Amino acid sequence: MPDEAATLALGTAMARAVRPGMTIWLVGDLGAGKTTLTRGLLRGLGFGGRVKSPTYTLVEIYPFSSFNLYHFDLYRFVDPEEWQDAGFREYFNPESICLVEWPEKGGAILPPPDLEIRLDMAGEGRLARLRSGTEEGGRCMDEILAYWSG
Ligand SMILES: Nc1ncnc2c1ncn2[C@@H]1O[C@H](COP(=O)(O)OP(=O)(O)O)[C@@H](O)[C@H]1O
Ligand SMILES: [Mg+2]
Repeated sequence: MPDEAATLALGTAMARAVRPGMTIWLVGDLGAGKTTLTRGLLRGLGFGGRVKSPTYTLVEIYPFSSFNLYHFDLYRFVDPEEWQDAGFREYFNPESICLVEWPEKGGAILPPPDLEIRLDMAGEGRLARLRSGTEEGGRCMDEILAYWSG
């Protein structure tokens, strides 16, 4: 992916393939493009507002007509009790789509992902790698790649 527009376009492809009930992990260093990818996905779903990084709030909520999208960033996550008390576990349900930046910081609190997208620096651009964890994730990945190449 040579530039930001390409990352946003991958998000657009994701928007056509994701379904409620899915959990997607976004893995990669600071500045790899995880939030940019989420922005592309939200734009593709028709969200026209500002997409903020949830670094300090842990989660940003985007309500759509038939589901909620929860965008987590666990970079600063330290307290599993806070997770419990805030009821974040319930955000992972059949009516929601959950995207999680820095899932590795969540340890065992997180349910396993349907899909994992890994972003790495590649020169001036980025390399994206997709890996499915469930059958639904595999279907989603196939669709993303189909929309992405076409
Ligand atoms: N494919 C790409 N090539 C070059 N720059 C990119 C690409 N995708 C995103 N960027 C830029 O890299 C930065 C990524 O920031 P961000 O999405 O906040 O990263 P993260 O959430 O992974 O920390 C932004 O400045 C964005 O414009
Ligand atoms: Mg981010």
